[in-house]
Amino acid sequence: MKDALIFANWKSNKTKNDAKNWLEEVSVQIFPQNLEIVILAPFTLLDFISSYIKMNSLLLKVGAQDISPFESGPYTGEVSASQVKEFAEFSLIGHSERRSNFGESNEMIQKKVERAESSGLIPVVCISRISQLESLGSNRDIIIAYEPPFAISTSGPDASPENPDLVSEFVQKIKEKIQSKVIYGGSVDAQNIKEYLSIENVDGVLVGGKSLEPQSFINILKNAV
Ligand code: PGA
Repeated sequence: MKDALIFANWKSNKTKNDAKNWLEEVSVQIFPQNLEIVILAPFTLLDFISSYIKMNSLLLKVGAQDISPFESGPYTGEVSASQVKEFAEFSLIGHSERRSNFGESNEMIQKKVERAESSGLIPVVCISRISQLESLGSNRDIIIAYEPPFAISTSGPDASPENPDLVSEFVQKIKEKIQSKVIYGGSVDAQNIKEYLSIENVDGVLVGGKSLEPQSFINILKNAV
């Protein structure tokens, strides 16, 4: 049984009360020790979730879904990596929804990666093309998430998970360019998780829609082994 990273990307969902209900339901379950489970929460919930995890000694980790490309300072509305680091270990960077809705360029993503690294956050950088790796350099303590935009469950009526053989091929290409862990994201659910985790070079998954309801996330974790 290999170790696997499971990221729950809540996107722009959940109030504090929703998060509390989710944590209460998910945390009473016992999950295999080989899973490293990370909640990628909205900024507003980072403090609450990290405190809840500490208070209840849970084996869950916390990440943000984005960080500022700037250090702390006069950047109204931004949340800097060092502010996030008070509560979280990871930050998602360059999700395709940010690239398409907020025009994030590879240059901006690279700045965010640098900010994350200098603050001690582990960047989880989403890509869908090999060329997006170019600005990232190599041999970094970084996680790459391969997420083809068409595979994201909310991307449209034709959304469907990427073929596992093609995921394996793409991940291989990533690993030839950069020595890092690589996870897959896009319509991962309780039915297909085992198949993705059984791909030899895949180190985990990024789950969006199916991480929102506690029971659906619990089913994913149970089927992960
Ligand atoms: P999905 O989202 O699991 O709903 O396809 C994944 C993501 O966008 O991170």
